[in-house]
Amino acid sequence: MSDRRTLLRQTADLAADYLEGLDRRPVHATATHDELVAAMGGALPDRGEAPGEVVADLAAIAEPGLIASNGPRFFGFVIGGSLPSALAADWLTSAWDQNAGLYVIGPSASVAEEVVAGWLIDLFGLPEGSSVGFSTGATMASFTALAAGRHRVLERLGWNVEEDGLIGAPDIAVVVGAEAHVTIHVSLQMLGLGRNRVHKVAADDQGRMRPDALRETLAGLREQAVLVCAQSGNVNTGGFDPLPEIAAAVRELPNAWLHVDGAFGLWAATSPALRHLAAGLAEADSWTTDAHKWLNVPYDSGIAIVRDAAAHHQAMTLGAAYYVETTGAERDPYNWVAESSRRARGFPLYAALRELGRDGLAEMIERSCSIARRMADGLRDAPGVTILNDVVLNQVLVRFAPVATANNSSDDAGPAAIDSHTRAVIAAVQADGTCWLGGTTWHEMAAMRISVSNWSTTEADADVSVAAIRRCAEAVAGR
Ligand SMILES: Cc1ncc(COP(=O)(O)O)c(C=O)c1O
Repeated sequence: MSDRRTLLRQTADLAADYLEGLDRRPVHATATHDELVAAMGGALPDRGEAPGEVVADLAAIAEPGLIASNGPRFFGFVIGGSLPSALAADWLTSAWDQNAGLYVIGPSASVAEEVVAGWLIDLFGLPEGSSVGFSTGATMASFTALAAGRHRVLERLGWNVEEDGLIGAPDIAVVVGAEAHVTIHVSLQMLGLGRNRVHKVAADDQGRMRPDALRETLAGLREQAVLVCAQSGNVNTGGFDPLPEIAAAVRELPNAWLHVDGAFGLWAATSPALRHLAAGLAEADSWTTDAHKWLNVPYDSGIAIVRDAAAHHQAMTLGAAYYVETTGAERDPYNWVAESSRRARGFPLYAALRELGRDGLAEMIERSCSIARRMADGLRDAPGVTILNDVVLNQVLVRFAPVATANNSSDDAGPAAIDSHTRAVIAAVQADGTCWLGGTTWHEMAAMRISVSNWSTTEADADVSVAAIRRCAEAVAGR
């Protein structure tokens, strides 16, 4: 057996050992920053080492600093794990080491993206002929989609932003929901549109953009180019902006573009049972989602979809003389994202979608949501607990008041005391290690945020985690 084959087999064993241990290890890291630096750091040796030793050592050194975020009881942020086929396809992606920038240097990489693009447009129910870019994540997907929007609204005013930049360009008004994800603001920042010069539209108690407030805002913008950013899946509540009303208001403007950030929420559109949440999705001009979240594909994997493929192409294409561009049906991926040389992200996506199939995908999304409801129900009757959101998707917001008795009636504790108690419960759960979830601030209230997005999470995981959360809450309350 060649040395390389031995190394890859040994590495596969290391990976399998890790994955098989996910269920048993604490979810949190067990080493401090200083300990990790001490173990990994030091001067780079002058002499190289044998690959097998390097990899075995890396696995041992990194282990205490790994978070079991791809395990079944990680409910922090909106993370997701890796479906078996997606992980394996990701390994092959590295082994094949294709440069997926151009068709000519990666035909299979390009075709995998082409096929997946068609599947995704179909699964999400988006307009046929929409173009798709495979980015690092939702941040760059929103950047990509909004760049396409910026192109089109300025082009309608006779301005070529790719050639001439923004200095001296007609003004673009940007409208976002008050609860837009921070990465929308970052995308605007990178596009020269500014994080703060946006018109913010009030949201309702679930963080959904209010269409009446949007109409009021748009009434003053009729003469301008306008980009409107809506959201399918609020990162705290899971709530969906009402797209039918939003799209109708945007369509009344002569020169407007509607973008939807559905980093995780877009996947609801793939489920017959949940599709109603994303009603009106196909009315928008562009969409962002992540495959590394709820599709459970390894990092990194974001997706930008744009109805106006010409605008998307114009905004992203590199077009350089020495590149051998295709002229036929073949797809050069570098035309659809802000990258040239890039990883062949289509392969793990292709594998994940085939492993699940249309039905399996819907079932996985629905299962996450029913587990989220189960966790909310399991916590709802605990003393002092309030579930702050309508659990419509996979997100649950929990607040813990420091009641001393098990009668579920709130003490006289003020908001600040409840905030600090909630944070203490979150810290206790994180230290306990049965599961991991993070905190957030929702409408000026500290809250625990539970996100269910991992393919391997079972009802038993949910129940064990609920028991741990209840136990920690009781311990913190001194009961
Ligand atoms: C609604 C929303 N948009 C955008 C993002 C950013 O995604 P990424 O980290 O993949 O760039 C997130 C991440 O949680 C999100 O929930």
